[in-house]
Amino acid sequence: MTARSVAFSRTRLTELMVPSFANFGGKVHGGVILSLMDKVAYACASKHAGAYCVTVTVDGVEFLQPVEVGDLLHLDATVHFVGNTSLVVGIKVTTENIKTNEVKHTNNSFFTMVAKDDSGSPVQVPELELATHNEMRHFVTAIRRAKIRKEAQVRLQHDYDAFIPKEDFALVDTHRGKITFDRKS
Ligand SMILES: CC(C)(COP(=O)(O)OP(=O)(O)OC[C@H]1O[C@@H](n2cnc3c(N)ncnc32)[C@H](O)[C@@H]1OP(=O)(O)O)[C@@H](O)C(=O)NCCC(=O)NCCS
Repeated sequence: MTARSVAFSRTRLTELMVPSFANFGGKVHGGVILSLMDKVAYACASKHAGAYCVTVTVDGVEFLQPVEVGDLLHLDATVHFVGNTSLVVGIKVTTENIKTNEVKHTNNSFFTMVAKDDSGSPVQVPELELATHNEMRHFVTAIRRAKIRKEAQVRLQHDYDAFIPKEDFALVDTHRGKITFDRKS
């Protein structure tokens, strides 16, 4: 299987933010943007893999700025990492005001996708050529991000299992949860 470059599957999706995408506050629904992110991740991953890909995990979705109706939304996707059957697609989302041409960075997210064959089983993807330091940095960061996520999952499960109401009342009390059941029960 021949290795493929990052440039080979680089994908840009541009969508006009029409009024039907708006929430009750007049800004674009986060779900609309998530759906477009999934679409561009799918296109980029499937092009690299030469196979259909499915979304497994999404990291780093944070909306740093509201997206306005009337803006152009640009989603730029590149493959950051390949495993055996999985690959990580990094997506940079920006908005462009059509009248002023002002560009705002909305978020960066990382979609882990798995390539599947026609029978639905995971299938190996081509290696990724890393032609620049930046491409190598993305690759290494994806490895570190996956490690941190796995460690966080183990830690959170451990803390969840170790939940002791008596000791955790204080934690809730220093936040804004209001306990309404009998603390002695
Ligand atoms: C993703 C899926 C194929 C994994 O199936 P599986 O039987 O666990 O397969 P494997 O154990 O062989 O894992 C396949 C790859 O997925 C990766 N993977 C599995 N679970 C993962 C997770 N939670 N996070 C990141 N990667 C994961 C594995 O590391 C492996 O990658 P590699 O081949 O590069 O090492 C399966 O869970 C699935 O089909 N999920 C539904 C995906 C889908 O339909 N998404 C659309 C939204 S509904």
